[in-house]
Amino acid sequence: MLDKTYPYYLANEPRTSSTTMEVYDKYSGEIATRVAVPDDQATEEAIRAAVHAAGPMKNVKPWARQAVLQHCAKRFQERHDELAMALCIEAGKPIKDAAGEVTRLIETFRIAAEEAVRMNGETLNLELAGRLDGYRGYTQRVPLGPVSFITPFNFPLNLVAHKVAPAIAAGCPFVLKPSEKTPIGALIIGQVLAETDLPKGAFSVLTLDGKHASPLVQDERLKLLSFTGGQIGWDLKAHAGHKKVTLELGGNASCIVDADQRDHLDKVIERLVFGAFYQSGQSCISVQRIYAHASLYDDLKQRLVHAVQQLKAGDPKDKSVFLGPMIDEAAAQRLEGWINEAQQAGATILCGGKRKGNMLDATLMENVPKNAKVNRMEAFGPFALLVPFARIEDAFAMVNDSDYGLQAGIFTDSLAHAMRAWNELEQGGVIVNDVPSFRVDNMPYGGVKLSGIGREGVRYAIEDMTEIRLMVMRGM
Ligand code: SIN
Repeated sequence: MLDKTYPYYLANEPRTSSTTMEVYDKYSGEIATRVAVPDDQATEEAIRAAVHAAGPMKNVKPWARQAVLQHCAKRFQERHDELAMALCIEAGKPIKDAAGEVTRLIETFRIAAEEAVRMNGETLNLELAGRLDGYRGYTQRVPLGPVSFITPFNFPLNLVAHKVAPAIAAGCPFVLKPSEKTPIGALIIGQVLAETDLPKGAFSVLTLDGKHASPLVQDERLKLLSFTGGQIGWDLKAHAGHKKVTLELGGNASCIVDADQRDHLDKVIERLVFGAFYQSGQSCISVQRIYAHASLYDDLKQRLVHAVQQLKAGDPKDKSVFLGPMIDEAAAQRLEGWINEAQQAGATILCGGKRKGNMLDATLMENVPKNAKVNRMEAFGPFALLVPFARIEDAFAMVNDSDYGLQAGIFTDSLAHAMRAWNELEQGGVIVNDVPSFRVDNMPYGGVKLSGIGREGVRYAIEDMTEIRLMVMRGM
């Protein structure tokens, strides 16, 4: 299903190399394919090419940027099944989730195609006093220039799309380093971009490991670094010099189930199961902390445990499988260790808790001590904990008692509680009557506190990749 080897892309062109890196099938553990690995010289060439492409990219007309993005969306649609299988193999993502991600990839490019012709400025009335008579201001958005991107393993297509598609719409050449665990999605995007007539140097996709990626962070010729991944993002920011930095770094997302949800528990449970366990919880907005009103806590707990125990785990290529592997054994061991640690500190395992290789059971816990890692840190795996609450303000306080703040969910019929959640929860976004894991690709998406800075969601990323240039006119 996968090619035998994949080239990397340097200044729009495929490059082979005598050095290659294996990519594993995350379920079978076998080598699935190999990718060519660039050397330091190639990285320098890619950055230089991006710098040279800044002028030509800026001059590509909006309709032509739109055409490039539309071409990509069309080609991804044509290659839908191949892309889904690539994700399934390289990320261990259940094939249904993988197909869903390809659909989102296409949507993200379509949204960018629309935004490419919508980069408008404004007219400013500057006549604030008599001395300013005859002055008028105008703004336009201009591309920042060459930019760099570093993307994670959990959405090898769509989190690449969230950087690449806005860059093309904005007119910024880019150098991208995808996760070395899952580079194939980005390389197929590279293949499709190579079919377009983007100016030479407009894009490079470099299959580097973290150790060799420092020029993408430190090089002052690059004007923005957009990083999605773990807390290491803050270290990268500290080394990024003068460039702008956007960080999307995950969290320990919460979901509140309000007292009035007794009659909706079927729907609530269905969404909680999805939110906590889809793609084995390896999403930055996976449900990790569930706060349920005490009046329905026991009922919810019992039914949730039952639903979780029905989830089919196994080979992600099997369409009936819901729970596939975690990205590697080390990740599964880490979370298993946190679960054991919480249990030793007094927490109760309601279901799951066992691991075989990189397959970790869907796990629910309660009575988790506040300072347990499964509460305080990002689990990034098939795990959620339950806590009862008496008053809605107690639930809000527990959600806010976190170093993170990406998205939170609240199931409630009370408009007052929904509005209070929106106003009082320290989050990038609040999702009412659904899980925090909900995302549509035109939403502003990003967090507060340790969850990051800046927003993605195509239009917001375009704003980040452009700057306002003002013109003031007098007497015209
Ligand atoms: C993420 O893990 O940050 C991305 C979640 C999503 O796009 O659904």
